[in-house]
Amino acid sequence: MPKAWIQDRKKEFYYRKAKAENYRSRATYKLVQANQKYGFIKRNDVVVDLGAAPGGWIQAARKMTGKQGFVLGVDLKPIEPFTQEYIRTIVADLNDPDIAQQILSFLPRKADVIISDAAPNITGVWEVDHARQIDLATKALEISLQVLRPSGNFFVKVFEGDLLNDFLQAVKRHFESVKIVKPQASRAKSSEMYILALNLKPKKEHEE
Ligand SMILES: C[S@@+](CC[C@H](N)C(=O)[O-])C[C@H]1O[C@@H](n2cnc3c(N)ncnc32)[C@H](O)[C@@H]1O
Repeated sequence: MPKAWIQDRKKEFYYRKAKAENYRSRATYKLVQANQKYGFIKRNDVVVDLGAAPGGWIQAARKMTGKQGFVLGVDLKPIEPFTQEYIRTIVADLNDPDIAQQILSFLPRKADVIISDAAPNITGVWEVDHARQIDLATKALEISLQVLRPSGNFFVKVFEGDLLNDFLQAVKRHFESVKIVKPQASRAKSSEMYILALNLKPKKEHEE
């Protein structure tokens, strides 16, 4: 069976599933599958979702954290509002120098988990897209270092390529355990993958 055909069927499958289950994106299942396997988002957690529009990951994270938790979604684009008071969304740019302070001002306490599916507009020029994706992931890491509590977790989208290893090393300096995750819902032929970093080290260990 041709690979492209299988990929299209898979895309269609998650698209229909998202529609049927009232999720705003088929990307939702990437987070759901990763969390089913690794359990990095728990009940009552405070979660920050970077690059959150249209809000599929917010919906999934809210189910994982429950009513005693809190989810903040951040995106350049406005996100259609949610009715629950334990979900907030803001329009903001991850490149804004004050973004970490801005995020902290909306949280009840420091975050337990930061998730980032932020992605640039794809140009089709491989090197450009890869570099922009790693740049966004680096911003997400910088934000995490200010917004996460000690022992917090970080889950971030990257694209495979030359710059990935340096980014991976940077993440490893700050977290106890780091692995690359490719959820089933992420198309096999795409270079997209996620880095899951568990247990932010206490500041002294990784700030020097
Ligand atoms: C793949 S979508 C996220 C889908 C989301 N996880 C869901 O399930 O609905 C990537 C998002 O990253 C956002 N984004 C890209 N660059 C950004 C930036 N500099 N600041 C904030 N958001 C950004 C885009 O606007 C886009 O909505």
